Amino acid sequence: MTQNDPSALPDTGPIDWALSTTRSVRKRLDFDRPVPKEVVVEALRLAVQAPTGSNAQGWQWIVVEDQAKKDAIAELYRKSWAEYAGGRNPEEIPGQQGRVVSSAQYLADNLQRAPLFVIPTIKADVPVRDLPDGSLAAFYGSIIPAAWSFLLALRSRGLGSVWTTLHLFHEAETRQILGIPENVVQVALLPVAYTVGTDFKPAKRAVPVEAITHWDSWGSTLA
Ligand SMILES: Cc1cc2nc3c(=O)[nH]c(=O)nc-3n(C[C@H](O)[C@H](O)[C@H](O)COP(=O)(O)O)c2cc1C
Repeated sequence: MTQNDPSALPDTGPIDWALSTTRSVRKRLDFDRPVPKEVVVEALRLAVQAPTGSNAQGWQWIVVEDQAKKDAIAELYRKSWAEYAGGRNPEEIPGQQGRVVSSAQYLADNLQRAPLFVIPTIKADVPVRDLPDGSLAAFYGSIIPAAWSFLLALRSRGLGSVWTTLHLFHEAETRQILGIPENVVQVALLPVAYTVGTDFKPAKRAVPVEAITHWDSWGSTLA
């Protein structure tokens, strides 16, 4: 076997840029700029390079452009958001968390304005609630990496999104609106739009990675 030649590798720069600046975009989604179908298909083509358990590739992607369908799903999302947020006033919540709630409220109020919704789905051969832990990890692990790759591919093309799951509290109604078969599981709702500007920054994380990395045994962190 020949030795790994570092000069044959691409620059880490653009890859690290996408990995570190693909933020949850809500207030900076450009609702007025149409998203061409080809751009979404190109990003999905990259997304399906992701791994799947047993190479099953049981993924299907639903792109929702129809305004009446987006309105109906956004209404369900808002119901879930109202229950989840419990009437919290973002202005009374301090710091970063207040900003997240204000941003999430904005998304709930405006979700239907996103040019497209993308819903990643995966086929379930048995009801998900009957899966043992190992199979459950393999099940969700066979769609979430692909959906995240989709968001990275959007980012490198000047588009953005935010990973959302709140509509799943009304999963059955959404299933009906979109005609999704019983054995197909939705894992997220990704509103897709161009972003207003592209200057997103790496996020501050509460704890340095060294403090959550255990080497050889639990408790021997690097910090
Ligand atoms: C599993 C999961 C579910 C999420 N659900 C929602 C959601 O329903 N609505 C929303 O506005 N954001 C949702 N988010 C986005 C998080 O709020 C966001 O990732 C977090 O605030 C960190 O911000 P960042 O992604 O810009 O670093 C979700 C994220 C994940 C990973």
